[in-house]
Amino acid sequence: MTDVKIRCRKDGPLIITGEVTVTDHEGNAFDTSGRENIALCRCGATSKRPFCDGTHRHTGWEASETAPQNENPE
Ligand code: FES
Repeated sequence: MTDVKIRCRKDGPLIITGEVTVTDHEGNAFDTSGRENIALCRCGATSKRPFCDGTHRHTGWEASETAPQNENPE
């Protein structure tokens, strides 16, 4: 089994690294062959849904969430 990593880019897409299949709502797979990383849009402005096309850079969309740290100090 291949590890999959999903990284939230600051003010940008979700970057998926690892072997995954992206499907539409009918279960049909998008062609992602040859890609090491997949960028999924999370701003909603792309013209290539569900993939990021870079439009987020021009819209002022912001997202800078971070994962909570030290939630279970012992
Ligand atoms: S995150 Fe890049 S176009 Fe939406």
